[in-house]
Amino acid sequence: MLERSLVLLKPDCVERRLMGSIISRFENKGLNIVAMKMLRVTPDLAKQHYAEHVEKPFYPSLEEFITSAPIVAMAVEGLDVIRLIRDMLGATNGLTAAPGTIRGDYSSSRQMNLVHASDSPESAKRELELYFTADEICDHELRLTPSLRAADEE
Ligand code: CMP
Repeated sequence: MLERSLVLLKPDCVERRLMGSIISRFENKGLNIVAMKMLRVTPDLAKQHYAEHVEKPFYPSLEEFITSAPIVAMAVEGLDVIRLIRDMLGATNGLTAAPGTIRGDYSSSRQMNLVHASDSPESAKRELELYFTADEICDHELRLTPSLRAADEE
């Protein structure tokens, strides 16, 4: 199924100048970036985004980290893209993420794990609405899509 996921390149990704390398992995896979912007996450946005973690002991440190430098937010589209991107990221903790995954290749941290991606269609809808207005999403069909998958692969 054609889906969209919210992907955040977190402050550690921006600070380490890994944005290009990581965006390349999504592009090389044939995923379609339909919105992208750099912004600074405010404490209020952090609490909304990480609502399920606000009461956890690690939340204050997570908020300090996610608001510490700019991030890049992207809406990424593709078949089964919510599961696919989570697979490409690897386990939450970079120390245990499998080699070959983004976190496995670039991160050794549980908190500074470079990239966030939505974990379900419900989270994707909620998170995309937190970061993008409808008119910021550039809905377009790439002309090379027929070179990436057969017409009946949906
Ligand atoms: P993310 O996929 O963005 O979702 C929640 C984030 O909280 C996670 O990536 C990590 O950056 C961070 N996180 C999750 N678990 C812990 C933990 N136990 N200690 C510190 N940070 C955590």
